[in-house]
Amino acid sequence: MLKIENLTKKFGNFTAVDSVNLDIKEGEVFGFLGPNGAGKTTTVKIISGILKPTSGSVSIDGIDVINNPIESKKMISYIPDEPFVYPYLTAREFLRFIAEVYKIENYNDKIDELLSFFGLLDYADLLLSSYSHGMKQKLLIASVVLRNPKVMLFDEPTVGLDPLSVKKFKELIKRLTLAGTSVFMCTHILEMAEKICDQVAVINKGKIIASGKVKDIIGHDKDKNLEDVFLELTS
Ligand SMILES: Nc1ncnc2c1ncn2[C@@H]1O[C@H](COP(=O)(O)OP(=O)(O)OP(=O)(O)O)[C@@H](O)[C@H]1O
Ligand SMILES: [Mg+2]
Repeated sequence: MLKIENLTKKFGNFTAVDSVNLDIKEGEVFGFLGPNGAGKTTTVKIISGILKPTSGSVSIDGIDVINNPIESKKMISYIPDEPFVYPYLTAREFLRFIAEVYKIENYNDKIDELLSFFGLLDYADLLLSSYSHGMKQKLLIASVVLRNPKVMLFDEPTVGLDPLSVKKFKELIKRLTLAGTSVFMCTHILEMAEKICDQVAVINKGKIIASGKVKDIIGHDKDKNLEDVFLELTS
């Protein structure tokens, strides 16, 4: 499904992403872990087509994202770490706009359902300039679900979300992956990664230093959790 091969990104002489190989299957939740500055956001920006790699390739179902930007963008959604919304649209207008751009049919009921799911229905007709960080983040997550893409890229999706919204987010991830969507998620919340990710990889200074199922990375020591292993690997 999502295949990343020998991906390298240099900024001048500095190598931010160094020969990264990852393979994410259909319906899988993949957690991309690593300390600040490790190269997670840079990798996600390359997958989404925002940044061009120095070398290497990214493909979705065999379609190269660098050579086929339009085709691949139809299959990908990306929620960056800083949520951006158009300030002079209301939430409902924003979702309608997304639905029209991506040619989604019969969207009005879906929009209401999603706004209600995230507790935003009462705020649906307010301008987004009045939305809080968490409300914007939830609206963006709703816009992604509306699109139903093959691959979802999340950069720190739960930062700023209250506990109920985090729970809702996890529910949503489950629903989406059951329908075949693959989720690629950068996160620092190791407890969440341990609970919801089928596979994780740890990146440090641009290089993958561990990858696989959480239980394989932790190993046989029953007293250890992902946080212990992460700190050992990256310190
Ligand atoms: N446009 C850029 N120009 C120069 N260096 C950059 C640029 N973007 C990122 N970098 C560098 O690349 C490295 C990786 O950054 P990146 O944002 O990918 O880290 P990250 O793993 O997402 O970190 P965080 O957990 O803090 O979000 C950092 O050292 C950063 O300073
Ligand atoms: Mg980042």
